[in-house]
Parts: sequence; structure tokens; C-alpha cells
Amino acid sequence: MKLKRIALAVMVSTVFVGNAIASEAKTDFYNSDNWQKAFPEQYKTWAETEQSNPVSGKPDDLLAANPNLIAAWAGYGFAKDYNRARGHHFALTDVIKTLRVGHPMMNKDGVMQGEAMSASCWSCKSPDVARMYDEVGEGKFSDNAWSTWGHEMSNTIGCADCHELGTQELRMSRPYADRAMKTIGKDFAKQDSVLQASQTCAQCHVEYYFDGTDSKKVKFPWDYWVPGVETDYKDFVGYKGTDGLYKGFASEAQLAYFDNRGFKDWTNAVSGAPMVKTQHPEFENMMDRTEHAMDNHLEFGCTTCHMTQTTNEQGKSFIDHKVTFEAEKLPADCQSCHEAGDFKEILDERKAEINQLRFAANGTDPRLTEVHFKAQAIWAANGVKGLESGKTIGEAQAAYQAALKQKTPLAGEMNSLLVKVRNAQWFWDSATASHGIHAHNPTEAVRLLTKSNGILDQAIAEADALLAKYAPDYKYDATKYDSKEKLQPLVGLSFEGMSQSKEVFLKERVEKEWPVKLK
Ligand code: HEC
Ligand code: HEC
Ligand code: HEC
Ligand code: HEC
Repeated sequence: MKLKRIALAVMVSTVFVGNAIASEAKTDFYNSDNWQKAFPEQYKTWAETEQSNPVSGKPDDLLAANPNLIAAWAGYGFAKDYNRARGHHFALTDVIKTLRVGHPMMNKDGVMQGEAMSASCWSCKSPDVARMYDEVGEGKFSDNAWSTWGHEMSNTIGCADCHELGTQELRMSRPYADRAMKTIGKDFAKQDSVLQASQTCAQCHVEYYFDGTDSKKVKFPWDYWVPGVETDYKDFVGYKGTDGLYKGFASEAQLAYFDNRGFKDWTNAVSGAPMVKTQHPEFENMMDRTEHAMDNHLEFGCTTCHMTQTTNEQGKSFIDHKVTFEAEKLPADCQSCHEAGDFKEILDERKAEINQLRFAANGTDPRLTEVHFKAQAIWAANGVKGLESGKTIGEAQAAYQAALKQKTPLAGEMNSLLVKVRNAQWFWDSATASHGIHAHNPTEAVRLLTKSNGILDQAIAEADALLAKYAPDYKYDATKYDSKEKLQPLVGLSFEGMSQSKEVFLKERVEKEWPVKLK
């Protein structure tokens, strides 16, 4: 690995000094098109990820489908825009077009405005990130703003993300994923081919955050996680409760990791709760499969279902690189029990059970909205002003943060309430942001959502008691929060405004200055 890095650095520096012979001789393997000649079948099927696209041609808007997400993520980028995943071919386009990354443009005084994210947001969208780590270093890359590197990003997820340059050998192109695997005792170099294949996916399909202690590098919060082993983490955080909050699996281990560091991603702008966002922990939830219908199900790796073996016209076998789920492509030994046509029924059944825990009247999603707005009403009744009285997102967050630090009875009451909100939302997010969990580990989804609902029961009871004390006339009215159009303004966002600035950014900066071809 080390040797290859040095070789690459030499290559890059010769290109930089303008050595025409060197640049001609070297193939640019970050561009997947240059692998086509050697690996035509893999290339062709890789290109077919472009077919995984809704009929509208645009990604499905999940905030419109479920406005509760906007309240849950108020004050954080996800409340601006959140879409369902589509094929790998769109990854680079989608990270540039999403409202989450803002609309960074240089103003007349040479100051960048509208920058909303940091450089590591490119990490899961392009192999050019691996190239930049080699060229400028992981730390230096990460310590910049997102748009700093726009002129370097031209390739969507491709061969170089998962393979050694120009070969079929698998690799971890992201050093932070390599480090994380060592942390959980699953050193990439020492694993069998099934787990190595899953590890290439785990470079992106995992929970992560941007660590501030070692530059703003990507870090997976896995330090306490032993996959598949039930561990009690409460000693790490000095937790006194007996509700099993820290007993269990990846989700608990990750929360304990963040709690132990006093870490939050952001302050919820409606309630003031100190939040952590779970990002798509697909790998963790699969590794933690809690129940197995039968032994076969122990053999799952991501590629078993998403990249199956197939044959070309000459009967030569190869691996289908159209990474998606198509039941009729599953291996024959699955089809001995599951006819392709049965899958929809099993998956629909699993989804229905999950949706009941989420969307019923006493489910997670509507009650997260309820508890955030009830907390806002308690603050307001005590003269702590937020978005409801015209404050900006930043002002509301600062007001709540300050109020929580005071040594008042109210601060004690609100800390107790808002920590419950943090925990409930964390467990909910661990299940719901884990895409495909209804197939990967439905038992874990049910476990996490049941836990979240249990914590929400307590939180809402506490909020109601505080409302009775401070705002006896307050009535929660769910119809005020039941659409994206109603809710975004209430969390301080103007969809029109963001969209207009975005158009300007795409036209004036991306199309004129960046190499990417948007899809
Ligand atoms: C998201 C990760 C990923 C990407 C992107 C990817 N591959 Fe692969 N590739 C894999 C994995 C994982 C395997 C091994 C699958 C297994 O052993 O089950 C594999 C196997 C292969 C193999 C050998 C096995 C075979 O018979 O097919 C070749 C050749 C290959 N890939 C070429 C490519 C090329 C060319 C591209 C780009 C056009 C590409 N891969 C993109 C993950 C990826
Ligand atoms: C470099 C980061 C990265 C790697 C590596 C990666 N993914 Fe993805 N994956 C993404 C992103 C980002 C999206 C969403 C793209 C979008 O919506 O624009 C995605 C989307 C998907 C989807 C949804 C597409 C669909 O058709 O429904 C599946 C399934 C998926 N990935 C599986 C995998 C598997 C399996 C692997 C390993 C073989 C893998 N991914 C490796 C980043 C990655
Ligand atoms: C047992 C088969 C199986 C395995 C193993 C598996 N998946 Fe999936 N995956 C599915 C199915 C089925 C779906 C849901 C498809 C649907 O409902 O349309 C899915 C959905 C997804 C999605 C969401 C796609 C979307 O459209 O929202 C992602 C991302 C994903 N899987 C990634 C992974 C990763 C990463 C791994 C390995 C850690 C993995 N999967 C392992 C079967 C599997
Ligand atoms: C020996 C029979 C058998 C084989 C072989 C088998 N399955 Fe299953 N599978 C089951 C049964 C039974 C269920 C539970 C169905 C139910 O409860 O409706 C199940 C459930 C599932 C589910 C739903 C999620 C869950 O955990 O309940 C998925 C996804 C799945 N199987 C994928 C696969 C894949 C992929 C293979 C091949 C690697 C496979 N199965 C092989 C019998 C089998």
C-alpha cells in the first residue's frame, strides 16, 4: 500500500512539471472510462447504475414525503433538502445539486458567501477524493470548505473507489475506513473475499462524522463497537440509568462514543436539543444481524444481493457491477427458497411493520415533531425566544444553548427533556437512515424503533408536565406541521430563496468553472 502511494506521488509530480512523455504514458485510472478496454463487462454494467433513477429523472424528495424529518433536523442541512438514494452514477451530480451544500459564490470583496459544508462531503461521491488525499494529504484536503475542491472533482463513484488502479484487486481507497476496520479487529488485508467486498461498500455506507481532533478527517465512531457482541457501554459515559440505553449493538456503541466526548453535530433550532445525526449505517446493521431465518443468511455480504455473478453472451462469468437490488438476479441457492417474485411480498411485510412503528399516532415520526415543538413552547413561556418570535436559526440556537448552561430549575428540566429527545432521535435515525434495513436486518429496525418510542413516551410525558406548569393554555396542533411548505418556514428556511441562489451557483460557478458534467 505504502509503496503504491509513493509511486503515485512520483507520477503526479512528473505530470505537474509538465513532462509530456510522463503524462502520455500514464493512464488516468480515476476516470472509469479508461478501464473499459480491459474490463468491458464490468464497465458496461457499472455504467448501468444510471438506470437506477426514478421515472421523473429527479431523485425522490423525502422531506415532501415525510415533513417530520424537517422538524427532526431543524437547524441542520438535512432540513433543507433530503432525497432518496439513486444509482452511483448520480452521486457526484446529487452532492452538487443538493441545497444542503449551499451556493458558495465569491462576492465583490473576494469573500465566499453561501458556503455550508466542509470538504469531507465529497468523500463518498468521487474517487477523485482518493487522488486528492495522495496529492495534498488527507488532513489538508479535509480542513477546507466544500467548494474549495470543486475544480478537482470530475468522476462519480467508479472503479478506483474499490479497486487498485487498473486491476481487479479490491482496495480500501479511503484511509479512514481502513483505520476504522482495524479498530474493530477487521483489518482489510486479513479478511476473506466476502467481507473484503462488503468493506469496499463500508467506505461510504456507514455512520461517520468529521473529527475535529485530527484535522477534519472523516472518522467512524466505532471505538467501542465489537460487531455481533452484546456489550455494555454505560461505564464509558458514567450512565446511571437501568434502561439499557448503552447495552447492545452498533447504534448504542456509537451513541456512547459521542456522549463520552460530549459531542453534538448541531443544536436543533426548534427545541434546542443537542443532536447527533446518524448517517446510513448499512454496514453496521448488516454486521449486527440479530436474527437469522436460517444458516444461509449468515453468509450475506453486500455483494451477495447487490452485485451478483452473471455470464456474458459467450458464457464467460463475471460480476454484475450494476449495484442495485434486482430479485431475479439473486444466486440460485437463494432462489431455492425464495422465488424472485416472493421477495416483494416479504419486503413489503417487513416495511409495513417498520412503518407502523414510525407513522402510527404513537409512532416515532409524528411524535418527534411534537416533542420538538412542545419544547419550543416551554422555552417561549419562560421568555427564551426562538424561531416562533422571528429569531434567526443562529439566534435561536444561541439562546437555547445559553439557557441550558444556566443553573436554573428550568435549565435542569430542559436538559432532562432534551437529552431524551437526543437519544430517541438517535435510535430512530439509526434505523431509518439505514437504507434497506427492512431487508438487511428487520429485527434490528424493530428493536431500535421500539426503543426510540419508549424514550419518546417518557419525553412527551415530561414535556406535557412542563407545559402544564409553564404554559397551561398551550395546545399542540399537528396540522400546523403536516407539509414541507408549512414546516420549512417554521424552521427558518425559504425554499424559494435557497433554490434561486442554487440556480445562480450552478450556472455561474459549476457550469463555468468546474470539470463535472452534471446529469
Ligand atoms: C463500489 C465498489 C466497486 C466499484 C465502483 C467497482 N467494483 Fe469491481 N468489484 C467490486 C467487488 C466488491 C468485486 C468482487 C466481488 C466479489 O468477489 O464478490 C469486484 C470485482 C471486479 C472484477 C473481478 C471479478 C469479475 O469477475 O467480475 C473486475 C475485473 C472488476 N471488478 C472491475 C471493475 C471495473 C472495471 C470497475 C469500473 C468500471 C469496477 N470494477 C467498479 C467492487 C467494485
Ligand atoms: C464512494 C462511496 C460509495 C461506495 C464505495 C459505495 N457506495 Fe453505494 N452509494 C453511495 C452514494 C453516495 C449513493 C447515493 C447516490 C445518489 O443518490 O446520488 C449510493 C447508493 C447506493 C444504492 C442505491 C442505488 C439503488 O439502485 O437503489 C445501493 C443499493 C448501494 N449504493 C449499494 C452499494 C454497495 C453494495 C456498495 C459496495 C459494493 C456500495 N454501494 C459502495 C456511495 C457509495
Ligand atoms: C440479503 C440481501 C441483501 C444484502 C446482504 C444487502 N442488501 Fe442492501 N438491500 C437489499 C434489498 C432487498 C434492498 C431493498 C430494495 C427495495 O426495497 O427496493 C436493499 C436496499 C439497500 C439500499 C437502499 C437502496 C434504496 O433504494 O434506498 C442500500 C444503500 C443498500 N441496500 C446497501 C447495502 C450495503 C452497503 C450492504 C452491505 C453492508 C447491503 N446493502 C447488503 C438486499 C440486501
Ligand atoms: C432454506 C431456505 C432459504 C434460503 C436458502 C434463503 N432464504 Fe432468505 N428467508 C427464508 C425464510 C424462511 C425467510 C423469512 C420469510 C418470512 O418470514 O416471510 C427469509 C427471509 C429473507 C429476507 C427478508 C429479511 C429477513 O431477515 O427476514 C431476505 C432479504 C432474504 N431472506 C434473502 C435471502 C438471500 C439473499 C438468500 C441467498 C443468499 C436467501 N435468503 C436464502 C428462507 C431462505
